[in-house]
Amino acid sequence: MKNARLGFFGKTALPAWEEENGREANVTANVSEADLARQRDFMEQAAEINAGRGAAPLAFVDTYGCQQNEADSEKLRGMLKVMGYEMTRDEAAADVIVINTCAVREHAEQRVLGNVGHLTHTKKAKPDQIICLCGCMMQEAGMAERIRDSYRHVSLVFGPHVLWRFPEYLLSLLQGGKRIFATQASDGVIAEGLPELRDSRVKAWLPVMYGCNNFCSYCIVPYVRGRERSRRPEDVLAQAGMLAGAGYKDITLLGQNVNSYGRDLEGKVDFASLLEQVNAVPGDFVIRFMTSHPKDAGERLFQAMASCEKCARHLHLPFQSGSSRVLSAMNRRYTREDYLRLVEQARRAMPDLVLTSDVIVGFPGETEEEFQETLSLVEQVRFDALFTFIFSPRRGTPAAAMPDPFTREEKQRRFDALVELQNRISEEKHRAYVGSCHRVLVDGTEGEYLTSRTSGGRLVRLKGDPALVGSFRRVRITGSNTWALYGELI
Ligand code: SAM
Ligand code: SF4
Ligand code: F3S
Repeated sequence: MKNARLGFFGKTALPAWEEENGREANVTANVSEADLARQRDFMEQAAEINAGRGAAPLAFVDTYGCQQNEADSEKLRGMLKVMGYEMTRDEAAADVIVINTCAVREHAEQRVLGNVGHLTHTKKAKPDQIICLCGCMMQEAGMAERIRDSYRHVSLVFGPHVLWRFPEYLLSLLQGGKRIFATQASDGVIAEGLPELRDSRVKAWLPVMYGCNNFCSYCIVPYVRGRERSRRPEDVLAQAGMLAGAGYKDITLLGQNVNSYGRDLEGKVDFASLLEQVNAVPGDFVIRFMTSHPKDAGERLFQAMASCEKCARHLHLPFQSGSSRVLSAMNRRYTREDYLRLVEQARRAMPDLVLTSDVIVGFPGETEEEFQETLSLVEQVRFDALFTFIFSPRRGTPAAAMPDPFTREEKQRRFDALVELQNRISEEKHRAYVGSCHRVLVDGTEGEYLTSRTSGGRLVRLKGDPALVGSFRRVRITGSNTWALYGELI
């Protein structure tokens, strides 16, 4: 057996079934059919217990963090549904509460802990209530112990690697078992075929890979989500076909860095070819994807996007900083010049491309001049929208140990200046849409409006019949502001 521990780049903890089989750990493997069948059996047993309770029990699943967590929550809801639960948004009424947590910034963690603290009241009023915590935060060093000792009303803690074993854990609790803490680092596996209960009937998440190998110096994701694992293309295509067949009109392929898709699989498949294969799935739907890491994006991806008629004209390409010195300290492995070259290439391949990005201000040691380089990159690229973050030190990451001489107030000032600049650019770019016509997907309602999205993902508010939700329509843009466009049906 190989050394079983959570390590950097390559070797990961050996999952039990791999230890048994004596296989190498850094090859992606699917959870065996026998293991999945056991979980289905646990779901049936839980459903039987719940059927004996008269009215269907209620479950509340609350999700923090990124689209990956949203996709995981759809699986949790799917499993709960099979186990006989109906969904509720009312914490006090729920028989089971599952909080799917995020660890990416401290603020999100504080919110989770605050909300979990409040659940002492619901548990007191309803002593049989089962409170479960899962997701990235639970995989952080020391977190499970903290929950065990300080949040005694929580019965189940499990990490993202063992999400597929949720039925087993919940059944044990329904049968009166003890509190469970399952945060073993058994990554390197993918569980296919779990039931899903999706939030929308128009838009669907489709994870193509899990984990991250990049270890950007500020980021906790590789530590809590483990190494990159790609789903087999045939599994991705089967699911895309199923979603298109079920009438989904907007499918987003998910991964922390989709551009490294397939590197852990045998055979020659990369993300560009996966995109082409999903594009060939019959049906009228839009394909989106996120996220692309600039170090792995390039001409091959842009050409594939340009040639796939279903692929949205939208690229989310996080730049994080406009300073090459800071990018190097962030371990991003590209320079400001590399990034600007990529943007040029992408826009040459797709002149109507909508470009969005992520940026961090206040990285340890970022000087005023380096921050000015971020502003000048934003001016130069003119993103359509930007997700802006103030650096949050994450324990165990290299950046958390770097000297950080600038005050919170200084960082806030930079953050505000950046947001103001981007708001001006977004407002100008949106104003330029007025008078133009677009094909949009009507995806929901919001007060008196229908909401819809252009191919580039821009929000267009419209007046119209809610029966149009789920259909593609042509609209003329009649108004705009910083965050949205307004239009009328043609
Ligand atoms: N994998 C994606 C990529 O590399 O672009 C990003 C995923 S991360 C969940 C989303 C964004 O959160 C990052 O792009 C980064 O801007 C931000 N982020 C991650 N760690 C952070 C930290 N410690 N402090 C502030 N922002 C952070
Ligand atoms: Fe985090 Fe970097 Fe991985 Fe994105 S690529 S998840 S920012 S380590
Ligand atoms: Fe948060 Fe985990 Fe996503 S840390 S951003 S939920 S991968």
